[in-house]
Amino acid sequence: MQVITRQLPRHELGAYAGHLLALDADDRRLRFGQAISDGAIRGYVERIDAGRDTIFGVIDADLALVGAAHLARGAQYAELGISVLAGHRRRGVGAALLQRAQLHARNRGIPEFFTHCLRENVPLMRLARRHGMQIIVEGGEADGFIALPPPDASTHAVELLADRVGRFDHLLKSQALALRQVAAAWLG
Ligand SMILES: CC(C)(COP(=O)(O)OP(=O)(O)OC[C@H]1O[C@@H](n2cnc3c(N)ncnc32)[C@H](O)[C@@H]1OP(=O)(O)O)[C@@H](O)C(=O)NCCC(=O)NCCS
Repeated sequence: MQVITRQLPRHELGAYAGHLLALDADDRRLRFGQAISDGAIRGYVERIDAGRDTIFGVIDADLALVGAAHLARGAQYAELGISVLAGHRRRGVGAALLQRAQLHARNRGIPEFFTHCLRENVPLMRLARRHGMQIIVEGGEADGFIALPPPDASTHAVELLADRVGRFDHLLKSQALALRQVAAAWLG
């Protein structure tokens, strides 16, 4: 089944923090390259410049973020940080987020796309390789890199469609959740 991604609006950064806080200690270390406390995660999210960076998410039927990607932008590059909750892995959530972030960066004319991880992070390196990224391992760390081609009409059309599908998915799930809550209250 196709995994639907959605760009998170600025006011949902709190949900992104909640997603990162739900990662266990091992996953936090893989995500950030080092052990990180709850307070440091909150600080990281508070420092995100929502006017420059972009967060993409994948939600479940209860609107919980099961996967999320932070695309941090420089002038000539974009760097991806990605995480998927343990119970939702190996179903293409990571791949969908990576593709979505690459497309977004390409459509903004960013020529270089990176991701950084610990050398032991086999899933991330496998995912990156599968999406055309070159991996350079140095010491205990690894960098994935791909040069993005310039955007064209079709890449803009695909992103427009992905945005609409993401918003529609969120709307449908919101309404279904509201109906389930009303039914649960009604049935006692
Ligand atoms: C890396 C991560 C985002 C991947 O998410 P995911 O939803 O499982 O990704 P996908 O299902 O799209 O694909 C993962 C790939 O890794 C492979 N993989 C997963 N676990 C693996 C393992 N233990 N050993 C080998 N390969 C593994 C999958 O088979 C898949 O490869 P394939 O498509 O060639 O079969 C997820 O594991 C994660 O959140 N890890 C903790 C945080 C982290 O490491 N972030 C990266 C640093 S920024």
